[in-house]
Amino acid sequence: MLRCWDPRDAPLLADAIDSSLDHLRPWMPWAHDEPRSLDERIGLLRGFRGRFDLGEDFVYGIFSRDEREAVGGSGLHTRAGEGALEIGYWIRASAVGRGYAREATAALARVAIRVCGVDRVEIRVDPANEASLRIPRALGFAEEATLRRRLPGREGEARGDAVVFALFADELDRTPVSSAPLEAFDALGRSIPL
Ligand SMILES: CC(C)(COP(=O)(O)OP(=O)(O)OC[C@H]1O[C@@H](n2cnc3c(N)ncnc32)[C@H](O)[C@@H]1OP(=O)(O)O)[C@@H](O)C(=O)NCCC(=O)NCCS
Repeated sequence: MLRCWDPRDAPLLADAIDSSLDHLRPWMPWAHDEPRSLDERIGLLRGFRGRFDLGEDFVYGIFSRDEREAVGGSGLHTRAGEGALEIGYWIRASAVGRGYAREATAALARVAIRVCGVDRVEIRVDPANEASLRIPRALGFAEEATLRRRLPGREGEARGDAVVFALFADELDRTPVSSAPLEAFDALGRSIPL
């Protein structure tokens, strides 16, 4: 289940992150500011919820089907500029290797193109992050370039290089993204045709 975080998910998010710090720190700059207090997490999730509802940025939680566990996080980020959305992802340490990142990325890529109507979906990966590189490759994204020092880094540290992957709307039907199992719903729970 992919949906926007809600402030009341703070304990689920805490459980997912606090049990995954060593796994997340090499790749997610924000993980160095962890663990956070529950109140800080509530504040963070209020910000995610607010920006999501205003259409400014779309941070998603990845949940088990019964929504009792946070499996990880993802997002459709507007920082990629006009006509594009950038997907990011992390999966809790106890749930890696089960295809969750690939499934979530395929679902969000299709939503970005079919629901949000963007022409380009982008993914940026550290060249050393083997597990992450496999996801856009497996989903048929094209590898466009390696940009030097372009990944967001920790304050005061050099930024990492970024391998840029992109999928354009007119390429979607030729990729596994088009056939990924997916149901999408609006705010009232009505099915959105994809
Ligand atoms: C990268 C990450 C999101 C992958 O999540 P995941 O749910 O395990 O990914 P999937 O199960 O969808 O697997 C994708 C592939 O990577 C493989 N894989 C998973 N963990 C791996 C690892 N540590 N090293 C190498 N390959 C790995 C899977 O077996 C699968 O391989 P396949 O293509 O041969 O089938 C997860 O490891 C993670 O959260 N890492 C830390 C945060 C991070 O790096 N985020 C990405 C920043 S760009």
